[in-house]
Formats: sequence, structure tokens, C-alpha cells
Amino acid sequence: MQTQERTSKKTSAKGARNFLASIDPGNQNIDVIFAEVTQKKGGIAFTNEAHVTIPSLVSSDVDDYTFSQSGLVDGSGEIVARQFGIGAYPGAQWIKDSPDGKAQWVLPALIHCMWTALKDGDNITVYTSVHNAQAYRDEMKAALNGVFTFVKYDKQKTMTVKCDRVLVEGVGAIKSQNPSTVANLLLDLGGQTVMLAPYSGLKLTAGCDQPYQLLHQGTARLIAEFTKCRAVNETLKRVLTYQEARSIIDNPLHTFKGHDFSGSVKAEVDKWLNQVVKQVESLAPYHVEECPNKFATGGAVMIPSVRAWLIDHGYTPVNDPLSANVSGLFIIAKALEERDAN
Ligand SMILES: Nc1ncnc2c1ncn2[C@@H]1O[C@H](COP(=O)(O)OP(=O)(O)OP(=O)(O)O)[C@@H](O)[C@H]1O
Ligand SMILES: [Mg+2]
Repeated sequence: MQTQERTSKKTSAKGARNFLASIDPGNQNIDVIFAEVTQKKGGIAFTNEAHVTIPSLVSSDVDDYTFSQSGLVDGSGEIVARQFGIGAYPGAQWIKDSPDGKAQWVLPALIHCMWTALKDGDNITVYTSVHNAQAYRDEMKAALNGVFTFVKYDKQKTMTVKCDRVLVEGVGAIKSQNPSTVANLLLDLGGQTVMLAPYSGLKLTAGCDQPYQLLHQGTARLIAEFTKCRAVNETLKRVLTYQEARSIIDNPLHTFKGHDFSGSVKAEVDKWLNQVVKQVESLAPYHVEECPNKFATGGAVMIPSVRAWLIDHGYTPVNDPLSANVSGLFIIAKALEERDAN
């Protein structure tokens, strides 16, 4: 397999429009914000933003979409095509935080989220973030730069995609809060991952190469533990399924079959946070001490007892914890594109 041509030059096809997009490809949710970029006197402007969130369930065995990249051919000169579907198909996989996970799926996820808004010939400039720049930044850029032809049912659209900037995961969430301080610490309690990172402005603090992470310790672990919660099992006379436990935890009232399980959720939440937050903080004691301004983001912050625990422990929950990262990335994207246009 070889790439004969990889271009990020914008086409000048008649009627082609330019879009700006930010994407946060999480292990649990893919979050995309995009807007059309228009020219105005002395610079650029943006149309109303669209915001799309979908579960990170992807499949290469489904042919909803087929796509190829201009110039990408295999050893015998055949065009390399990939097919995919996004959604709860039988055998669909959750996107994995690995070199071949996010980089493999970021482009299909982006195009799927924007599909109905896109026309043949459009250009997309995209911003995204990774938690480990050394390991993933180049792969993400390589996956997102090129001229791609996507086919869905009878519709064919060729898009030029450009990604020059892959930021550090979490800077979007910090930016979205417009903090008055330069030094900020961010705790991200996601579906799979628990992450802690110290930032100086929009960069990681000197001495910290990448965010500190605990894999498989996010809300998925809390939910798995909750299935076995003794008080709940005694009330229901059985063990919960994972989906039941998830629906109890994600519903802020924590009711199920007429029972109020908020006390049990609080007990499990406290146990979980006392373990994972203490563990991730212990990986970076110096940074925790040096950064008095501590923010918390991620889907877990939607859970009332998580929010209460965080406030008790000196963290400020961000506004809109499910989307703070992608919203902030979009704010940064607009500012940098405006600057580049002038
Ligand atoms: N009201 C809610 N709506 C959606 N998710 C919720 C809600 N309350 C709690 N959650 C939890 O938030 C989790 C998703 O969090 P988030 O979107 O931050 O994960 P992610 O960024 O996709 O994953 P990761 O950070 O591990 O890559 C879900 O697993 C769910 O349990
Ligand atoms: Mg996340």
C-alpha cells in the first residue's frame, strides 16, 4: 500500500463550501461541532454551529458508507476502499484509545456526523485532540488530511479534508471555561478513562509530557461495580444487568422499578472516586499541589453525587461536562482560523 498523492490544498470547485469542524472521538461518545466558513470584508465569519453527539460504536463489516482516498492504491495499483457503518450494528465495536483505534475511525466518524450538511466538492478544516501527542498526533493528522470520496447508498461526495492542528486532550475543556488563571488542572472522568493534566494556558505544564491516565477506570467501572451493589441486590432480590445499572446511574434521580437508589449510588460513587481520583492524583502530586485551580469534566460530572464529591474535594465542575472539550476546541479553532485569515 502506498500513498501516491496526499494533498490538503483546498479545491476551487464551483460552489464548494468551506467548513470548520472540531471532533472529540471519545471511547463512549463522539462529539462534533461544525459551521460553514464564509468570507467577509477583512476576514472570515462562521454560520450557526451544528453539534452532533453519537455513541462511539463503529463497524468495518457494514457497508453503509464506502470511501477511498485520492492517490491511495495498493501494491498492484488498485484503489484502496474501506467500508463502514456507525451505530449499534451487530458486532459493532467501541472506539479504542489506541493508535489504530481513534486514528482509524476519526475520519469516518467526522464525515458521518456531517454527512447531511455536506455537498460534493466541500472542504473541511478540522481540529481534534489527543492525550498522547508523541504517540497519536501524526497518525491523526495522516488520517485526516487528503481528498476523500465517500459513497452512501446512491450519494457520492468528494471532500478535501485538512487537519494542521491536533491539540492536547483537555485544552478544549479548559478553554470553554475561560479561566482567569494561567495554571489549571483538569480531571476528566470519562466512560473508560480517568485523566488528570496540568495546563499552562493551552499547553501542558513544563515537565508534564502527557496527561496522567488510568485506563478502564471510568464510569464503565463504576457501573460494573454497581451491578453488584449489595443494598440494591437485596431490594430487587437479584443482580442488576450492566444496562440496568447504567440506566440507574445515568438517570439523575437514580430510580428503578419504583425504588429510589440514590443512597446506594452515592455510596458506590464515593468508593469509586476515593479510589480513582486518589490514584490518578498520586501519579502527579507535584502538579496537584502547584495548580490551585482545579476543574473537573467528563460524563461522570453529570451524576449529582459525583459533582458533590468533586466540589467537596476542591474541583470546579465545568459547564456542560459532556461537551466542554469539543466546544472549547471549536472556540480555539475559530480564533486560529480567524488569525490565519488576516
Ligand atoms: N446524563 C448523562 N448523559 C450522558 N452520559 C452520562 C450522563 N450521566 C452520566 N453519564 C456517563 O458519562 C459517560 C460518558 O462520558 P464521556 O462522554 O465523558 O466519555 P468519553 O469521553 O466518550 O470516554 P473517554 O473519556 O473514556 O474516552 C457515560 O458512560 C455515562 O455513564
Ligand atoms: Mg473523554
